[in-house]
Amino acid sequence: MAVTLTEDARDLLTFPVQIGPAKIRNRVFVAPHTTNFGQAGANLVTDRHLDYHRARARGGAGLIITEGIRVHPTSLRQLGLQAYSDDAVPGLTALTEAVHAEGAAIFAQILHTGRHSGDEHYGSWAPSPTPWATGAPVPHAMNAFDLETLVASYAATVERVIQAGFDGMEVHLGHGHLLHQFLSPVTNARGDGYGGDPASRLRLALEVLRTVHDVVAGRVALGVRLSADEFLPGGLGPEEMVDIIRRLLGEVPLDFLHVSHAAYIGTSSLSTQMADMSYGRAPFRHLPARFKQEFPELTVLAVCRLDTPETGAELLAAGEADLVGFARAHIAEPRLLRAYLDQDEPAPRTCIACNQGCNANLEAITPITCTVNPAVGRERQWDAAAAAPARPQDTVVVGGGPAGIEAATWLSRRGHRVRLVDAAPELGGQLREVVRVDGRDGFRILLDELLAELATTDVTVVLGRQVTATDLAAWDPDAVVLATGAHHDAPMPAYAGVRVLNPEDVLRDPTLAGSRAVVVDELGVWEASGVALHLAARGVDVDYVTPLAGFAPRVTVYSRLALGDQLAAAGVAVHPMSSIGVDDGLVTIIPTIGTDRIIRDGVKSIVQVRPRHARSALVEGLLASTWQGELHLVGDAFAPRTSQEAIYEGRAVAHIIGVDDPTIAAGLKVRAPYRYPRLALAVTR
Ligand SMILES: Cc1cc2nc3c(=O)[nH]c(=O)nc-3n(C[C@H](O)[C@H](O)[C@H](O)COP(=O)(O)O)c2cc1C
Ligand code: SF4
Repeated sequence: MAVTLTEDARDLLTFPVQIGPAKIRNRVFVAPHTTNFGQAGANLVTDRHLDYHRARARGGAGLIITEGIRVHPTSLRQLGLQAYSDDAVPGLTALTEAVHAEGAAIFAQILHTGRHSGDEHYGSWAPSPTPWATGAPVPHAMNAFDLETLVASYAATVERVIQAGFDGMEVHLGHGHLLHQFLSPVTNARGDGYGGDPASRLRLALEVLRTVHDVVAGRVALGVRLSADEFLPGGLGPEEMVDIIRRLLGEVPLDFLHVSHAAYIGTSSLSTQMADMSYGRAPFRHLPARFKQEFPELTVLAVCRLDTPETGAELLAAGEADLVGFARAHIAEPRLLRAYLDQDEPAPRTCIACNQGCNANLEAITPITCTVNPAVGRERQWDAAAAAPARPQDTVVVGGGPAGIEAATWLSRRGHRVRLVDAAPELGGQLREVVRVDGRDGFRILLDELLAELATTDVTVVLGRQVTATDLAAWDPDAVVLATGAHHDAPMPAYAGVRVLNPEDVLRDPTLAGSRAVVVDELGVWEASGVALHLAARGVDVDYVTPLAGFAPRVTVYSRLALGDQLAAAGVAVHPMSSIGVDDGLVTIIPTIGTDRIIRDGVKSIVQVRPRHARSALVEGLLASTWQGELHLVGDAFAPRTSQEAIYEGRAVAHIIGVDDPTIAAGLKVRAPYRYPRLALAVTR
């Protein structure tokens, strides 16, 4: 059942628009996002791109703007896309054809990333030899020859992209990429006519855009993506960017402005680009609004944490933008617009702005995926799995966390009989703990959607029942899915006079932490920072201590930089590469290197954030029993990880139970069950 939109919102979202010569069927676009689905080394379009974008075009988006297509090898990323060679044209043509066949338009984003390109062979170009972050590689400061080469590369790339059938061209002037690096006084320290005063810093962008405009020659739409605010001291703010765009328009006519924000620099500026759940919804909508006000004659595109078409419609209604963009919301839900318009569609999955599956993989230069949408980038395999016939089975899912709920819902949708059993009085598992953490409450959306989806099925839910292997053997189902999660050992009651707690203890009752707490992080994920912020917000003095080299190293840089500011603002003292010693109520923070110990008096509690243990004892019990069914272990019950793996594995097993075709399990990469199905046993006996 689709989500309901008001009539006004539907009208606003579905009203067609023309950008230059390009006709767009509605006001919703897929904002550019690098997928890392490219062919390794060659940086060409793959079937993964085609399937992925076809699904989003079919899902209702009016326009897809591609990930940044690189104009030169100095801007390579191993799995990104390029159009600096003719080899790229056939793949790009296949991409435009796939999207057009679904009725959507497609623009190419034309990009050189500049100093953070980081290619191991070609190196990186930049206006000045300053790395993007402390410790990052020093780029090559471009000379006159490089600058000419760059402009020529833009021209050649744009011609290829037009040949490939794109409807428009977006030249990236923002996000701290190369042309933006020239625009900004923070990154451009040149004195050669391409740096210095605003006009000189604009010179390269103007040369590129004049050239691109001449090549385009009105054949397709032409616009720029810009950062309306760098969020940097001494950087470009909205005033300066309005001035830059005004100067630019004086020389080069443009059809659209795509208003984003942020610089690519090792500060929280970078985190604003993909604002995570700690920011709330549409935190930067004032920026496109400002540009729409300044340039009413141009088509203005808005983006960032609009999250749902409802919010997008609000911006359209307020006249703040002409089109509304969704990057992560489309990663999470390819049917984004259709699910809101068509009452017969199943409810959409909403992006929870966790920055895990998408941005953590972006950073790691591996193909993106999504916490709430396991099909990302593997649409073909999941479509095959959905189409594979299943023999109806009698199934029991043990454990009602994300893995168990997802497994039960999809088993039921696929025609199996399902009992979902949990020892707890309510469903949700560890998600119930996570949603208690300030700033992590985006997971509430996921929990609510999982429960709402389950409620549409005929799964029998049994709560408050601690099921045993004997029970399961007696029920004698065809298949059991164990999604029993993971647990912490009980902490020792006190350690040399200081109370020791698990994270879930202080999340349920923060007063247990007392007035001063030390949070010890052995994981490097969100958990310890979340707990530290949660306690600090309740007036607790918090030291965050970790033996790891930095705080939260397993949180993507796109969130970690903002997290650092949040910890600092909350007054949490962060001690990386440190351990603690406790003696008679005194806690000593001991650096791994060096001798400067810090002694904390009055510490009331130590919160240990350490690995959980998989709760998988039922496996042994079932294997020792006479039961002969098919047994799967999913999510944290296999090994404690995140909700991303839990949801993936829960949905995946539901697609292989009762399915005889072995290519389905191989395509979804599902671990083999612990017992062969009865059918196989009957044959082998
Ligand atoms: C995985 C990922 C890759 C991205 N790659 C690009 C890119 O290639 N070019 C670009 O201009 N923006 C890129 N972005 C930024 C998005 O276009 C967008 O500005 C940002 O995600 C905020 O919008 P959202 O809240 O709708 O996701 C990327 C975002 C994500 C999540
Ligand atoms: S991984 Fe998280 S932030 Fe990224 S698209 Fe999925 S839900 Fe959204």
